[in-house]
Amino acid sequence: MALKQHKDDQVRYNQQVDNSRNYVLPFIEQTKPIKDGTTVLEIGCGEGGVMVPFLEKGAKCFGVDLDKIRIDIANDYLKDEVAAGKAEFLLKNVYDEDFLQRFKGYFDVIVLKDTIEHIPEQEKFVPYIKQLLKEDGQIFFGFPPWYMPFGGHQQVAEHKIAMLPYYHILPKPIYMGILKLIGEPKNKLIELEEVYDTRISIERFERILKKSGLQVKNKQHYLLNPIYKYKFGWKPIKQTPIITAVPFVRNFLTTCVYYTVG
Ligand SMILES: C[S@@+](CC[C@H](N)C(=O)[O-])C[C@H]1O[C@@H](n2cnc3c(N)ncnc32)[C@H](O)[C@@H]1O
Repeated sequence: MALKQHKDDQVRYNQQVDNSRNYVLPFIEQTKPIKDGTTVLEIGCGEGGVMVPFLEKGAKCFGVDLDKIRIDIANDYLKDEVAAGKAEFLLKNVYDEDFLQRFKGYFDVIVLKDTIEHIPEQEKFVPYIKQLLKEDGQIFFGFPPWYMPFGGHQQVAEHKIAMLPYYHILPKPIYMGILKLIGEPKNKLIELEEVYDTRISIERFERILKKSGLQVKNKQHYLLNPIYKYKFGWKPIKQTPIITAVPFVRNFLTTCVYYTVG
């Protein structure tokens, strides 16, 4: 019983475009205006929809993703922009040596939207992607903290009962055992285990930024993630400053965080 956008590429693409236009781009522009010729990279771009509002502003956009089906869709949906040389969608691991060689110090803005929580060893990853930035460049991160009700991404599961909140924070053997018992298929078990292994809290994320020599330019925590507007019709709600300020506890009540750093 995965949600509609997990099965329908066009729905997922449209949600990426709308969420980016109304929330991601305006948030980034609070600290970094997007203009003609601004160079933008989305790591984990999926179907490429997040880049559309940036393209509309005249930015030169690149997307990179490991998933061939999703990159093929990006190259199809945005074929006019690709043909015009305004966009490139690359089937690659961002860690590929030739990627770094081509793009070292190239980007004004790097976007990671719902991607950092899928990347192993974020302590190494963040300093690595910093090399792709121009000196005054900025990185946007938007992600659901691990301890939030659905931080295990259990909404992608096949069975409705597997979508219950919070039980993903149980020890791994118990959590994975429950998913197996419910009868989740192998591909879902692999996907959910991957999120378990790469889980990231707000505190660990902020420690990684500090260690990587990155300063927070802007941040917004949400009680209700803006993307829920498109997924469930729920209005986004910003987290209260009091909860935002309370370490650890805030993770349980914050469904999404946005940061720009540089
Ligand atoms: C949850 S999706 C997010 C897609 C899109 N940004 C969005 O907001 O809808 C995360 C994406 O990151 C990609 N990804 C994970 N590790 C990667 C890596 N090392 N290099 C490139 N892409 C990666 C995955 O293939 C996946 O498509």
